[in-house]
Amino acid sequence: MRIAIVGFGSVGRGVAKVLIEKRSYLRNLIGDYRVVAVTDSKGGVYDENGLDLRKVLEIKRRKGSLPEEITSIEVVRDLDFDVCIEVTPTNVESGEPGLTHIRECLKRGIDVVTSNKGPLVVAFRELMDLAEKNDARLMFEATVGGAMPVIKLAKVDLAGNEIISVKGILNGTCNYILSRMEKELLPYEMILEEAKELGIAERDPTYDVEGIDAGAKLVIIANALMGLNAKFEDVERVGISDLTPEAFKVALENGYTIRLIAEANREYLRVSPRLIPLNHPLAIYGTLNALEIETDLAGEVFVIGKGAGSVETASAIISDLICLKSLRCS
Ligand SMILES: NC(=O)c1ccc[n+]([C@@H]2O[C@H](COP(=O)([O-])OP(=O)(O)OC[C@H]3O[C@@H](n4cnc5c(N)ncnc54)[C@H](OP(=O)(O)O)[C@@H]3O)[C@@H](O)[C@H]2O)c1
Repeated sequence: MRIAIVGFGSVGRGVAKVLIEKRSYLRNLIGDYRVVAVTDSKGGVYDENGLDLRKVLEIKRRKGSLPEEITSIEVVRDLDFDVCIEVTPTNVESGEPGLTHIRECLKRGIDVVTSNKGPLVVAFRELMDLAEKNDARLMFEATVGGAMPVIKLAKVDLAGNEIISVKGILNGTCNYILSRMEKELLPYEMILEEAKELGIAERDPTYDVEGIDAGAKLVIIANALMGLNAKFEDVERVGISDLTPEAFKVALENGYTIRLIAEANREYLRVSPRLIPLNHPLAIYGTLNALEIETDLAGEVFVIGKGAGSVETASAIISDLICLKSLRCS
């Protein structure tokens, strides 16, 4: 298997480390593999015989950027390889740059594994059709809930079930802030500032706290598991920035907490703060993600797991890679 890694940030480097450290284990599952290209926003490196990933990681660490031997566009348009790991930044409005990378690969019959929500939110059906037409596969477990299994869980383990609805916590940053508001009854702004200092919230937290990230994941899950053709604009969205310690106090007195819940059913897609009974499985704490999947045969199935992180997200990407090789599981 010849692999190209497009995007070499936190997730791209996490995948590279796993490909190095678990080589002999992974060889048993996917056969021999080599990474023939790695790119970032400034450039990239390639070697048809396989790059020394340790060296590539070291160059990126020391210099911040990869040498300008090849660009991402050249890789996806011209280079010969079997699987593209597309891990560039998410843009839910244009889907770029990932949308172009994924389209180019699928057109050429090259399989894609991605953690990038943007292309799937903007063009889910188009990309699935393109993959089918060209006998390629597009795998995207890492786009929804990091290490928490959702897509393959529903498609493989719950195969034969109709997914009636999904409801859960799809943003770890919001869940961290709300968990602390519940426990400490402190104002939102104060906890947000601390979360920024800890690196749990971005300097500009809009994407997380306004429910954009959770909404994007909800669109992907609804389209992939419920056969919808939803767009990001279809998501009714309320963020967490107006929540007060008083609201938590009243909720707690009545046996509830408040969590940012993403929910999709046949009637609506919605991301909003909701009251959750304190003993409910979705009353989770810290940066965890959780999802309740309602099915016609199996009833309700719950998953909880780490929704982000370099190696955690790599876990979902590696499982997709193995799936491409060994199972029909999408
Ligand atoms: N981090 C997580 O825990 C997590 C979890 C689930 C999903 N995701 C998603 O996974 C993707 C990657 O996340 P990340 O945390 O690794 O982001 P990141 O650290 O910001 O890395 C993004 C990488 O993409 C590169 N890049 C930007 N434009 C590019 C282009 N045109 N061609 C090639 N490379 C380009 C950047 O280059 P430079 O290095 O030159 O800036 C950087 O290496 C995002 O879509 C994110 O939403 C992340």
